[in-house]
Amino acid sequence: MNGVTWYDKHPAFIVQAEEPFNGNAPLDFLCQEFVTSTDLFFCRNHGNVPVVDSNSYHLTVNGMVKTPLVLSLDELKARFPKVEIMATLQCAGNRRDELQNVAPIPNELPWGAGAISNAVWGGVRLRDVLIAAGIDRKAKHAAFSGLDAVTRLGKTFGFGGSIPAEKTLLPETLLAYEMNGQPLEPIHGFPLRTIVPGYIGARSVKWLSTITLQTEPSDNYFQQRAYKLFPPEVTPENVRWEDGIMLGENSLNTVICYPASGDRLPSGAVQVLGYAIGDGHNLVNAVEVSGDGKNWIGARFLTDNRDVWTWRLWEASLALPAGENEISARARDTAGNSQPQDTQEIWNFKGYSNNAWHRVKVQVKE
Ligand code: MTE
Repeated sequence: MNGVTWYDKHPAFIVQAEEPFNGNAPLDFLCQEFVTSTDLFFCRNHGNVPVVDSNSYHLTVNGMVKTPLVLSLDELKARFPKVEIMATLQCAGNRRDELQNVAPIPNELPWGAGAISNAVWGGVRLRDVLIAAGIDRKAKHAAFSGLDAVTRLGKTFGFGGSIPAEKTLLPETLLAYEMNGQPLEPIHGFPLRTIVPGYIGARSVKWLSTITLQTEPSDNYFQQRAYKLFPPEVTPENVRWEDGIMLGENSLNTVICYPASGDRLPSGAVQVLGYAIGDGHNLVNAVEVSGDGKNWIGARFLTDNRDVWTWRLWEASLALPAGENEISARARDTAGNSQPQDTQEIWNFKGYSNNAWHRVKVQVKE
């Protein structure tokens, strides 16, 4: 591992894999901060962390545009207004470990519920850049590609993916060069990345080199194979890759960050803390918590934010009897959507989009 910097992460940061570097904050740290400190922000990498020289760096915008652009970082900053957006990134593999308890999911990282974090992103609006390039109305997708090197199926290429053209034109979609008021850290995509609020983290491509406007989604491995959702009966042996659903928007989700499974708690009311995240369109407006799966109480939101792509932190006070208890949490949104009850019904062989009710087992002392 890069022992020199450890990528400047917090001493409590949990490293899931050293090469490529992947990790996340412990859950009890995560729910203490509405805006996650950069040193606790989760990292998801499929290849190396490229060292990019910001002086020679340039972004290429090509494909279905009138005027292809090649922009240095300084040109990008000078030509387009700076905006800031608070947005939560969640990896599609968040909570995979619970799906792995249903049936094995080999060759995928066993993420717990920490593959999510919230930051304030500074940069320019993607739509401003695409309007300057003269986006063709017939373009249906914007494909992004990164400067890292990932090897899959015997080939080495940059990580990539795409989003629908409509999402590129919404004001929240950014080309970000800052995170929490500072230039992006190398591990988070220096000098430039996309930020696609409300979408799975995979579409927020780091070390961005090229944006190509086209009629079809990206042909990159991470759009055509990985980050696709299949029904529970599909396996690596019988999969037809073209049948999978390309993941885009997040799923409504909520997680108990404190207490943790296995905790031994004193008797009396237990303070339960967690996060909830919407599907990118609708605001989470209710979280409920239960100690027995039958009687539910409403949690109180600790944050009053209304942006649908930003998580909401919550707390509840739950009276639990002595002995073993299973605490459950579930959320609803303004459109009336709710979460599936069990992981069995949503298991998929790549281990994506687990948004079943979250449960932790705790021991309450006499
Ligand atoms: N961009 C590049 N170039 N390479 C990657 O491996 N990982 C993606 C996305 N962008 C990735 C990437 C995934 S799967 C996620 S969840 C987010 O970056 C994570 O962003 P972070 O590491 O800044 O938290």
